[in-house]
Amino acid sequence: MYSIAVSTAALLASSLLPTAWAQTQTDCNPLNQTDCPDMAALGGNSTFHFNEKWDPDMWMQKNAGEVVHRGNSTDLIVKYQGESPTVISNFYIFFGRVEIVMRAATGQGIVSSAILQSECLDEIDWEFLGTNTTHAFTNYFGKGNTTDYTRGKEYKVDGAPQDDYHNYTIDWTKERIQWIIDDEVVRELKPEEALDGKNYPQTPMNVRLGAWSGGDVDNNDKWTVQWAGGPTDFKESPFTMSVREVYVEDYTSAKTYSWEDMDSSGDWQKVKVIKLEDNEKSPTIQEIEQPHGVGNRWSALSSTAKIAIIASSCGVAAILAAVMLFCCIKQRRAGAKEFAAYQAGVDKENTDLIQDREQWQVSHKAARMSKYTRL
Ligand SMILES: *[C@@H]1O[C@H](CO)[C@@H](O)[C@H](O)[C@H]1NC(C)=O
Ligand SMILES: *[C@@H]1O[C@H](CO)[C@@H](O)[C@H](O)[C@H]1NC(C)=O
Repeated sequence: MYSIAVSTAALLASSLLPTAWAQTQTDCNPLNQTDCPDMAALGGNSTFHFNEKWDPDMWMQKNAGEVVHRGNSTDLIVKYQGESPTVISNFYIFFGRVEIVMRAATGQGIVSSAILQSECLDEIDWEFLGTNTTHAFTNYFGKGNTTDYTRGKEYKVDGAPQDDYHNYTIDWTKERIQWIIDDEVVRELKPEEALDGKNYPQTPMNVRLGAWSGGDVDNNDKWTVQWAGGPTDFKESPFTMSVREVYVEDYTSAKTYSWEDMDSSGDWQKVKVIKLEDNEKSPTIQEIEQPHGVGNRWSALSSTAKIAIIASSCGVAAILAAVMLFCCIKQRRAGAKEFAAYQAGVDKENTDLIQDREQWQVSHKAARMSKYTRL
């Protein structure tokens, strides 16, 4: 009888709980280390509606600071010194396009960032300074190389980035990178302009959105403080970056990207691509398309599954009734005790279903928060 309850629980659990991500964030640099983990590819395109909700199944929260959905946006809030709330996509793209509709944070020394970054520190950036109400800052890095000082460039935005939402796009191919503000291509970079290609971003990247204080004088050198627009006065907080929508397109049809064949060159040709079959959807796209939340998951179940769950629940109820009757007749006291114990077991199964999901989220969040990395 207990096994019926257990199988009901298992059926519910397998259909209602999110599949845990195999891939976890590491600071494994594949150019210095072997065995860096494979990366889940987006392998398609998707629009993330940060105006409607903030989806912790697809985006990991890192670092101290609040990330909350409010009104028509998801807000990343720097309130206290040392905070740098960040969300990082669980998936990677290997050449692709990212459109970010956002409003930058105000505040002296506060930096709002919308970037692509790889595990071997290739990077393509949009950055906005809290007190620069006219320009957006663009930058790139190849393998974290900072020796060339012509990388950073700023471009005029029509309307203050802190007042209005704008669409900041990065379009990244093997041949060129474009930075686009609203409808205008403001910057283009070709591999030959980036140390003959060596500094050209070319490894799978994920999307990172975050706000931080470059003006935190205790944690930054004076050049960073200066670049960021001066020291931050935390008495003026909170400083809020707002994200409305992010469209991401992976130009490679992949399930997974792997570092297996990588050497110290960091060359894109050494990235191993586990391709999708024709018409196959990547596990990431499948996960995105799968309804989220217990209610939605229930409605997404096939009617056969629903009938099975209802039937076994009814079966449990019928057996319960029989057990009760049997126990009551046979030995009232002992029966009540037995039933209470049995009921406790059933209740626990049900509670575990709910708690599993919550614990999964809490423990993953704790694991993320424990690592402090600056964008
Ligand atoms: C986005 O993906 C869908 C399939 O999920 C496809 O039909 C559509 O053409 C794609 N759009 C672009 C711009 O690639
Ligand atoms: C962002 O701008 C690009 C270029 O004009 C456009 O193609 C795209 O549809 C815009 N995306 C969003 C989410 O508004």
